[in-house]
Amino acid sequence: MVVVIEFDYHIKHHFGKLQKMKSVLSSKFIPIFSLFCLVLLSLPSPSLSAHAKCNSDDKKVLLKIKQDLNNPYHLASWNPDVDCCTWYAMKCDRNTGRVIALTIFSGNISGQIPPAVGDLPYLQNLEFHKLTNLTGQIPSTITKLVRLNFLRLSWTNLSGPVPSFLSQLKNLTFLDLSFNDFTGSIPPSLSELPNLLALHLDRNKLTGNIPESFGKFAGNTPDLYLSHNMLSGTIPRSFGDLNFSSWMDFSRNKLEGDASFLFGKNKTVQFIDLSRNLFQFDISKVEFSENLVYLDLNHNKIFGSLPVGLTQLQLQLFNVSYNRLCGQIPQGGKLQSFDLYSYFHNRCLCGNPLTACK
Ligand SMILES: *[C@@H]1O[C@H](CO)[C@@H](O)[C@H](O)[C@H]1NC(C)=O
Ligand SMILES: *[C@@H]1O[C@H](CO)[C@@H](O)[C@H](O)[C@H]1NC(C)=O
Ligand SMILES: *[C@@H]1O[C@H](CO)[C@@H](O)[C@H](O)[C@H]1NC(C)=O
Ligand SMILES: *[C@@H]1O[C@H](CO)[C@@H](O)[C@H](O)[C@H]1NC(C)=O
Ligand SMILES: *[C@@H]1O[C@H](CO)[C@@H](O)[C@H](O)[C@H]1NC(C)=O
Ligand SMILES: *[C@@H]1O[C@H](CO)[C@@H](O)[C@H](O)[C@H]1NC(C)=O
Ligand SMILES: *[C@@H]1O[C@H](CO)[C@@H](O)[C@H](O)[C@H]1NC(C)=O
Repeated sequence: MVVVIEFDYHIKHHFGKLQKMKSVLSSKFIPIFSLFCLVLLSLPSPSLSAHAKCNSDDKKVLLKIKQDLNNPYHLASWNPDVDCCTWYAMKCDRNTGRVIALTIFSGNISGQIPPAVGDLPYLQNLEFHKLTNLTGQIPSTITKLVRLNFLRLSWTNLSGPVPSFLSQLKNLTFLDLSFNDFTGSIPPSLSELPNLLALHLDRNKLTGNIPESFGKFAGNTPDLYLSHNMLSGTIPRSFGDLNFSSWMDFSRNKLEGDASFLFGKNKTVQFIDLSRNLFQFDISKVEFSENLVYLDLNHNKIFGSLPVGLTQLQLQLFNVSYNRLCGQIPQGGKLQSFDLYSYFHNRCLCGNPLTACK
């Protein structure tokens, strides 16, 4: 049951903006989804046969956390007289009784993240999610959680900087700080996280450039979600050598200059959203990978004519509206399956689905 819910959640999360594209669960996603499922499956379920009792140090820490959160009703099951491995919003390792997951979401909780979370040394999964009254900064005690591989602090009202100390959490595979009030620039040190598969910093108030260091991650190149911020400047050239596994979302920022080097025949990336920025480049000579299924470039300053290579792609979404394109829209492939609103407001684009070229 838990697995099903979490699985569904991840699909929704990745496809939140693409409800109509649910069918795109292509083979490229399966490895990441099954990884999450494996992680979830490997977490013990307290309802199954005998398991170790909750570690007493961990129990003390959890009670401190409850107190620091002003004893919310959401944690009413955190009763000191009961084995803490049966409590709500957390999980123990069934053999050791150590707390390995703390996942608090959608509760009426006010306050700050208790620094005591850093005293749960076996924690692998930490989530504070959909808690609009959770405020303040990310406590530095979090760096003590060396086993942490999943950290989601999202849809809360956290503020302050995205701390550079997060780069100390070397086992992180998933870092999600989206939908908060974080300010300041993206710490370059995040590129030192060697196991990262996805980095969500979208929907904050981040400023400054995309760090140069992101042109070379210590391990895999994680999928990058940076949309809905106030990032500015150009995308580092070194991004041309990167192979994002599936997503690159830089939309709704103030990024400028060339972005043509992000594309290329052999790239694995499937979803690219650069919409609502100030990108300015000639698209005529750009080569696209056949892996690309989602390309949103609307509201930029892109010029030139649309290359014929686009007709070779299995596009599910394509939007080049509000740019400075000219010439005939190539005919064929999926390009005519999109309506005129994918093409309107350009300098002199013409041909189906726009009016015929003169
Ligand atoms: C949240 O809790 C506060 C105080 O405990 C209460 O006043 C408020 O009505 C609660 N809000 C919701 C949505 O339950
Ligand atoms: C947030 O706090 C305010 C003020 O205490 C309260 O009215 C509101 O119900 C809380 N909302 C939630 C979702 O906890
Ligand atoms: C939390 O964020 C929401 C939406 O950004 C805002 O309306 C609300 O006032 C904030 N609440 C607090 C307690 O800061
Ligand atoms: C990091 O994760 C790997 C694989 O999940 C695990 O073998 C290793 O023990 C972890 N490191 C720490 C410090 O927990
Ligand atoms: C990207 O990765 C794929 C599969 O691992 C590989 O075939 C391709 O050559 C790589 N492309 C680039 C530009 O590195
Ligand atoms: C793409 O991959 C093919 C075969 O794997 C290789 O011959 C070609 O040089 C690559 N092109 C680029 C631009 O990396
Ligand atoms: C393309 O972008 C424009 C401008 O934001 C919007 O009006 C239109 O609905 C979009 N079309 C699609 C198919 O996303």
